[in-house]
Amino acid sequence: MGFKSKLPHTGTTIFTVMSALAKEVGAINLSQGYPDFDCDEALKSLVGKYMAKGMNQYAPMRGVNELLDATGSKIESSYGLSLDAREEITVTSGAAEGIFSAITTIVHPGDEVLVIDPAYDLYKPAIEINGGKLVVYSLRAPDYEIDWLQVGKLVTPRTKAIVINTPHNPIGRIMSGEDMSALQDLVVSNGLYLVSDEVYEHLVFDGFRHESALRYQRLFERSFVAFSFGKTFHATGWRIGYCVAPAALTAEFRKVHQFNVFSVNTPTQYALAEYLSDPQHYLSLPDFFQEKRDFLQEALADSRFTPLKSRGTYFQLYDYSQISDKNDVEFSREMTTRYGVAAIPPSVFYSKPDENERIIRLCFGKTKETLARAAERLCKI
Ligand SMILES: Cc1ncc(COP(=O)(O)O)c(C=O)c1O
Repeated sequence: MGFKSKLPHTGTTIFTVMSALAKEVGAINLSQGYPDFDCDEALKSLVGKYMAKGMNQYAPMRGVNELLDATGSKIESSYGLSLDAREEITVTSGAAEGIFSAITTIVHPGDEVLVIDPAYDLYKPAIEINGGKLVVYSLRAPDYEIDWLQVGKLVTPRTKAIVINTPHNPIGRIMSGEDMSALQDLVVSNGLYLVSDEVYEHLVFDGFRHESALRYQRLFERSFVAFSFGKTFHATGWRIGYCVAPAALTAEFRKVHQFNVFSVNTPTQYALAEYLSDPQHYLSLPDFFQEKRDFLQEALADSRFTPLKSRGTYFQLYDYSQISDKNDVEFSREMTTRYGVAAIPPSVFYSKPDENERIIRLCFGKTKETLARAAERLCKI
């Protein structure tokens, strides 16, 4: 047809590919990042309650006040930031829409945007579709440390923004206080904007705290911070999250959001507002998921997979160099089709993968039964 694609290098995401393959061959799916258990019955009944009450028409473009206010209180108790919730929070169709709309709000054609590889697969197409130019800083195994001096050297007069993700998918790295101070200096001194993807904010382990961009006042003044109710409350299919930004930035963000999705489904907004009144619903999450991480690690202790450090998210990287010399894409396929456990190859998160890395990503956000069955298969390899 001679159609000129706006994203000529983009195909179907690896998550869709691996999940479809897992289904086809009947493998246990530890690839895609969603739980195989249901969300809380109490939350489902609340959605039913508000549907029955007739809350079924368009919600306000920014979100219903009840949810904005409840989210503002959650942010204040979690991160000590007091917001004007109705002017600085926007309910989005998943964090994905928040990130896409934030990037669209910021990036003009020709702007450079710094991205840290490995990077969640949404950031790069979102930058490119807006005419931005990617500038990539790569983290490498096994430590994945960020050298902020080197990141700073990538800044040019055309640099407009930087995208970060903490806790980080796929490597399970969390930003430290020192990282965030260095990031704040970089952003403020160069007049950049920050898009901070914090969908795994409550999945931080080993007693560490989540270093949200919302904790750093000078950084927040230049930030769009994306969160996900879907990830937090095991309801990824509901497509609901929120984006937090100072009022002036939120006003610009909403111009994009309103013509992108207009607003997010109404009954889940009321349901979440009520559900948030009990903080235990999210404060219990670190222990809940850390137990799963430790369970999988113990179950694989006698296998030939070696775990890398995972301090956050529900992902764990495993080195398989004692098993195979195949690259991670081939090995992930082999794991799925031959050994019956689907995994994700981290190389797909890189613009320039390291050909020598022999690492796969497993999702431990699953029931113990699923993890035990998967581990049994993996221990036989
Ligand atoms: C790092 C990261 N950011 C954003 C998202 C998208 O979140 P949501 O489902 O709320 O759109 C995901 C989903 O897997 C993710 O892993």
